[in-house]
Amino acid sequence: MDLLLNSENADILPAGAKAPPAGCDVRTWRLDDGGRQTMVLSASEDHLPQVVYWGAALPLDEDLVMLHAAHKLDVTGGMLDENPDLSLCPEAARTFPGQPGLILRDGDGTPLFPKFSFVSDTQTVSQTGSQTGGALTLRYGDETNGLILSFLFATDASTHIITAKTRLEAMRPVHLHWLAAPVLPAPQQSEEMIDFAGRWTGEFQLNRTPWSPGMRVRENRTGRTGHEHFPGLMIPCSGCTNTRGEAYGLHYGWSGGHQMIAEELPDGRRQVQFGHATGMEARVDTTFETATLYVTYSGTGLNGCAVSFQRHLRDRIVTWPDIVTWPDKERLRPVHYNCWEAVYFDHTLPVLKDIATRAADLGAERFVLDDGWFGQRDDDTRSLSDWEVDLRKYPDGLGPLIEHVHSLAMTFGIWFEPEMINPDSDTHRAHPEWALGAEDQTLGRQQKTLNMGLPEVRDFIYDRMAAILAAYPIDYIKWDHNRVLPMPDAEQTRGSYELLDRMRANFPHVEIESCASGGGRIDFGILKRTQRVWLSDSNDALERLRIQHDAALFLPMAVTGSHVGPRRCHTTGRVFDISFRAWVAAQRHMGFEMDPRELDHREVAILRDVTSWWKLNRSWMLGADILRLDSADKSVIAEQQITRDGDRFVVFAGKAATSDQIAPRPLRLTALDRAARYRITLVNRDTAPALSRGMPALKDGPVEVSGAWLMHHGLTLPWNFPDTMWVLEGKRL
Ligand code: DGJ
Repeated sequence: MDLLLNSENADILPAGAKAPPAGCDVRTWRLDDGGRQTMVLSASEDHLPQVVYWGAALPLDEDLVMLHAAHKLDVTGGMLDENPDLSLCPEAARTFPGQPGLILRDGDGTPLFPKFSFVSDTQTVSQTGSQTGGALTLRYGDETNGLILSFLFATDASTHIITAKTRLEAMRPVHLHWLAAPVLPAPQQSEEMIDFAGRWTGEFQLNRTPWSPGMRVRENRTGRTGHEHFPGLMIPCSGCTNTRGEAYGLHYGWSGGHQMIAEELPDGRRQVQFGHATGMEARVDTTFETATLYVTYSGTGLNGCAVSFQRHLRDRIVTWPDIVTWPDKERLRPVHYNCWEAVYFDHTLPVLKDIATRAADLGAERFVLDDGWFGQRDDDTRSLSDWEVDLRKYPDGLGPLIEHVHSLAMTFGIWFEPEMINPDSDTHRAHPEWALGAEDQTLGRQQKTLNMGLPEVRDFIYDRMAAILAAYPIDYIKWDHNRVLPMPDAEQTRGSYELLDRMRANFPHVEIESCASGGGRIDFGILKRTQRVWLSDSNDALERLRIQHDAALFLPMAVTGSHVGPRRCHTTGRVFDISFRAWVAAQRHMGFEMDPRELDHREVAILRDVTSWWKLNRSWMLGADILRLDSADKSVIAEQQITRDGDRFVVFAGKAATSDQIAPRPLRLTALDRAARYRITLVNRDTAPALSRGMPALKDGPVEVSGAWLMHHGLTLPWNFPDTMWVLEGKRL
């Protein structure tokens, strides 16, 4: 390390670089999360460490040097004399037979093949209540190439999430092609992996791929998280279901497009790498850092991973707005009204006032004015970036509408699409050079992206948005992003983050919703700066039921918007009863998006009732875990939202199709106390159709049964039509 310490760039080098301890040729570290999982890292001599164990908690006195030795693979014909380590950053220079964790070139373009040696380690243990977490930083250096590679880990004893990041520092500017967050081994007791695909109005589709030799690569080059590429991976071990078995979950918290590599090596080992999409760092530089990789191990099925992600997101990542102005904390999640599907660009004050009055009467507590209020925005061909109120539509500004909304005891939110510009806008006419990409690029929704890497662009947008927020009492922004980038560019994402951070810092009472044609920008990176996601542009209750069920692998109720849409759905043309539409919205952060003038008396009454139910229950549901149930009937999509102490829960059992068998199969619940008794009430039993002719106990009134029975037999529900939802409340007695 001498050369490193004496180099010109000594400021990036650690002061206390340690020589390997005398007589010791193995270094070990362990990360524990207070009893659920252990991760053991070890390294031979000065080499990069590898994760030699990741799974259920190990005894605290486990001999880690022994684990290191016991982890070693045999060697046979056709292999090198020793197996190269599957380290936190597998090195091509050590003949690693798969994807390396780092691919870079020198400033002049010469490929570099670094080989790192130990520099220093720092481990701290933290105490949260009775639970122990900790942080570990490992630094490695490559003297020949003048590089330092650091790995940063932290464990959370409450959420059971381990966070991990890799940082690369170079003594001279280099070109980075690929840098993986700490590389982890994947279990070999697993037949398949689940990653995520999707499309506009069809987000969070589970993609199951069997493990096989070679790589599965997911690369997102769209420059935003995208509907198509949610950056997550679930690895169920053999026999794992939602409620049972072992599983591993990973999520890369970055909004600019990622690459994931899940690779099975010729020797059978499996590795998982996550990082920014390749080549996103357009400029030579001396410091690069991955986004945070969030990982967890579960011994309670996919739900164990889902609950960890939900809790970590809600309790550690989202920064909730300063709510001192709210009348009470319950209203942290006000019932939402969004006018998009009611009026689109056709804004007239009397109509919007009428709609606001009706929305308030249904139970709405926040009114969001969507696209169409600024510039000359009569359709989606013009005016993006001209963030000034359209005086043709609002001759006296937004004041009269906001005053009306406030008089109805609703708060007011507004739509922006800050990173975008239409060629047909005053801003583009004045500054065509602010747009990202070639002049003759293919437009997306008739718009270009602003170059968020330019400080003057960020200042301009900030000033325009801040002027609106300063002029009016607004406490909510729907922040949209309706096209992909002309090319992936990390600077763009950093620029967007900077603008969001500035907005949050200066308007801390303003909540922000992340929208990108629905769920095109959902990840833990954007959710550090926002508090709600518009999960999908699909207000089709049947599609939404499925989308929000699968998104619950990562997203808690508190951040997931769900609206009651128009009677005839605008994106599918289907018609569903108001009861189904309302209950599907009530599973998450509830809102309305239809034109309330279309509702008849019956629909108004049902919507009011379900909204009142939601308001009564939201305070505990906000902090609840969403557990996906293993339904024996494939036409039923069911979940259980349960308080942390397990005293109270609600089950939503959505009937997504007619069943193959004639009578409903029992629905097993999960995560209950076997010995406790619970009272179960079918909240909407009055809505059973005439074709349900029998009298299962739940149709008659509450049942009181043990947790063991609920988990091993399950609830017998009344027969029902497709596109309906049974809602059951449970209380521990
Ligand atoms: C796309 C969003 O997903 C919609 O909800 C709406 O806000 C439109 N943009 C407005 O242009």
